[in-house]
Amino acid sequence: NGQPALGANAGTAPLDRVRADDSGRVLTTNQGVPVGDNQNSLKAGLRGYTLMEDFILREKITHFDHERIPERVVHARGSAAHGYFECYKEQSDLTRASLFAKAGKRTPVFVRFSTVAGERGSTDTARDVRGFAVKFYTDEGNWDLVGNNMPVFFIQDAMKFPDLVHAVKPEPHNGIPQAASAHDTFWDFASLMPEITHMLMWAMSDRAIPRSYRTMQGFGVHTFRLVNAEGKSVFCKFHWSPMAGTHSLVWDEAVKISGADSDFHRRDLWEAIEAGAYPEWELALQVFTEEQAEAFEFDVLDPTKLIPEEMVPLTPVGKMVLNRNPDNFFAETEQVAFCTAHIVPGIDFSNDPLLQGRIHSYVDTQISRLGGANFHEIPINSPIAPLHNNQRDGMHRQAINRGRVAYEPNSLAGGAPFQAGGRGFNSFPQAADGDKVRGKPEKFAEHYGQARLFFISQTPPEQDHIVNAFRFELTKVQTVAIRKRIVAMLRNVDETLAQRVADGLGLALPPAMPTLDLVPIPDYAPAPSLSLTHR
Ligand code: HEM
Repeated sequence: NGQPALGANAGTAPLDRVRADDSGRVLTTNQGVPVGDNQNSLKAGLRGYTLMEDFILREKITHFDHERIPERVVHARGSAAHGYFECYKEQSDLTRASLFAKAGKRTPVFVRFSTVAGERGSTDTARDVRGFAVKFYTDEGNWDLVGNNMPVFFIQDAMKFPDLVHAVKPEPHNGIPQAASAHDTFWDFASLMPEITHMLMWAMSDRAIPRSYRTMQGFGVHTFRLVNAEGKSVFCKFHWSPMAGTHSLVWDEAVKISGADSDFHRRDLWEAIEAGAYPEWELALQVFTEEQAEAFEFDVLDPTKLIPEEMVPLTPVGKMVLNRNPDNFFAETEQVAFCTAHIVPGIDFSNDPLLQGRIHSYVDTQISRLGGANFHEIPINSPIAPLHNNQRDGMHRQAINRGRVAYEPNSLAGGAPFQAGGRGFNSFPQAADGDKVRGKPEKFAEHYGQARLFFISQTPPEQDHIVNAFRFELTKVQTVAIRKRIVAMLRNVDETLAQRVADGLGLALPPAMPTLDLVPIPDYAPAPSLSLTHR
């Protein structure tokens, strides 16, 4: 078919084609020329000029000079492993996704866990959200479930993501802080964005300092759709639960470990797998209908809300086992490209405005991070499902496509790729009608109810940890008005929480923030004076 057999990532054998083992072999150049001397450059006399002619030296240095690629704009620090997903029971009434087709069916996976804010070399045990990204190499193409270890998110709309990340990342003038959230820009943004409140409660809780990647939950966060072979659809949220239980560090442990071993989580995952203590997670579906969704007091398209399990129970559908470490960190962990747009027949999107923006963002960033449009050919990214299309050329193209036809329809190549019709991926025909507007649905405006539920669901020691986290983080914030706005926000979550945080900061309790979302927040953020002329 002209495509190289790059695929097959999960089993060991299919990757053999691209595996390289150099040990004990004769050293060569990139052109396969045996190298006579790898110790000394070529000179005009032993103490003379190094010669331009030395193609061996130049090739060695040139390749070295280009060894680094840009790190991910978020989630730069991560660790990954191979494994499989095993389906418990056929789910064809809910979805035609092939990984759920049969009890006992195994689908290869590659999973990358990450922190969000820190740079590639930052510490593992920082207070942060953790990424939980799973690539399923299904036999109908790759499905990426690109989730986090918390079930909700900071913002409701993709439009705010660059602002969120600019606020979270190290401050641009001094590059501080590298991996933690304790700084003015983050808390300034948070204090002016009440929709962040629920996620803040999770981020200040023990969930933000997991004991191990092996003891973290994972969540798809957004509402997705499942679609069965008859074209019937239900809504679904995805939940991963670690078989080893969910465990966190306490802050003092996290701080101490961070100093003693900043690779703590990376080492733990690696060593567990090397020792044969394979980590396992159970995947559960939280399935509900559009009619149910309409009755909820929150909007299922709002990613700052979860669906309480008392309202919609979880159905376990399979387990994931991670049983093999990567051969090469760069080739696999660094070059893997997860993307929310990677869905397969049987799975579809909802209109969650955060998810809709993500569908664009990942491929876009990977085109620059991984150098052009052909990164799907990098072995870790290529599907085990057959790949045939009319794409051609581009930087670093690997496939040697044969024949003269790269278009469709055509009459010159009877065997050219043709569309699969009903057997292929077809978007769920959801009704779409409405005025072209910017804005939020009404139910998106309430931000405190679930934040309160989360706080009161915590045990007293866990509540103490949340209070202490807010105190610690906010004492690092130098602008007093920001500290006050956060306490004003917390008054809408829980008065004792607000009081305890205020006491820790030596603040008098400020008036509560308005409970409905109006931006700019009256009394808290002065409206900027607008001017259309440049200074
Ligand atoms: C990584 C964008 C929200 C989970 C990334 C990357 C970008 C990005 C550009 C780097 C990708 C790469 O270089 O390969 C966005 C945007 C969002 C958003 C625009 C909102 C509009 C979220 C949410 C979640 C999430 C809600 C969790 C549900 C992840 C994970 C990674 C990631 C796990 C790391 C994937 C890996 O391990 O390689 N995101 N993100 N992101 N994002 Fe998001």
